[in-house]
Amino acid sequence: MAQKIIVQDGEWNEEKNRFHYAKELESGNILFFHAPPFAFPQDEIDFLLAQRQSGSASRKNIAYKPDLDKVTNHVVDDLVSTEKMREVLRNYSNRVTKFLSVLLSPYANTWKRDYASFRPFQEQGRKLRLRARNDLLHVDSFPTRPMHGARILRFFTNINPKEGRKWVTSKPFGDLAAEFGGSEVPFPLSAGFTLKDRLERKMKDLLSKTGIKVPFRSPYDVFMLKLHNFLKENEDFQKNCPKDYWEFPPNSCWAVFTDLVSHAALSGQYALEQTFIIPQRALLLPEKAPVNVLERLSNRNMIDPVYSTQMFADRS
Ligand SMILES: [Fe+2]
Repeated sequence: MAQKIIVQDGEWNEEKNRFHYAKELESGNILFFHAPPFAFPQDEIDFLLAQRQSGSASRKNIAYKPDLDKVTNHVVDDLVSTEKMREVLRNYSNRVTKFLSVLLSPYANTWKRDYASFRPFQEQGRKLRLRARNDLLHVDSFPTRPMHGARILRFFTNINPKEGRKWVTSKPFGDLAAEFGGSEVPFPLSAGFTLKDRLERKMKDLLSKTGIKVPFRSPYDVFMLKLHNFLKENEDFQKNCPKDYWEFPPNSCWAVFTDLVSHAALSGQYALEQTFIIPQRALLLPEKAPVNVLERLSNRNMIDPVYSTQMFADRS
């Protein structure tokens, strides 16, 4: 079960800690910061706390896509607010990235900065379809964006001035895969490496690039998504699994591999988050990575390395 690793002010600058925190994360622990380890101007926080969503996208988190410098799901009528939201989320994304480039320097040359999000809703009682609910324990898997074995690392900040953000965590991926994999959640067929297998994947890949929707998930992604859904739909697991309860107080931050640590957000409102995708080759403890755990358990190939390499092709 996940342990809380408190990162004290300034520890990230010490050479001896260069690999320490990345290893804690890869071991399934949660890094905790009493306060944001970077400047966060009060006017930016006040702006976020004043947001009131309306309209059809109002049930979704507000997302920021750094590569496009674009905000989605922000439902307001005035251009000033739209531009301000973009600026505030861009600033947050940049500050988190700059900070983690030091704290988690082994990843910084190869990671992909993914989306940031602002979560303005009260999680307790939030009306979402079952598989989208945040208050049910799960490991993260993106239904529309396959990872091909790469990792999902997330950094959160609770900007609510009064209310803590309450989480619950349970067993790590390895225990869950050993318990449910191959029985309740079938192991997918191996990724094949014959010429026919490769051609088939290439075809699907080309079609999806032309806009034709062809789900192209590695066996790893298929398993992760099935496990995610299975856990959320399993009342017995949700009720009876071992649990640790967490409260992240106002102004605190935390970081976790959410594909490894099963988690749920029970309550809390106004959190920010930045996601990073970490390639397998940057990991310090690759034997603990879900894809490797899964390959050992199933004795099957879960990814085609061509695709996992392609995801990071524009990086060194
Ligand atoms: Fe999650």
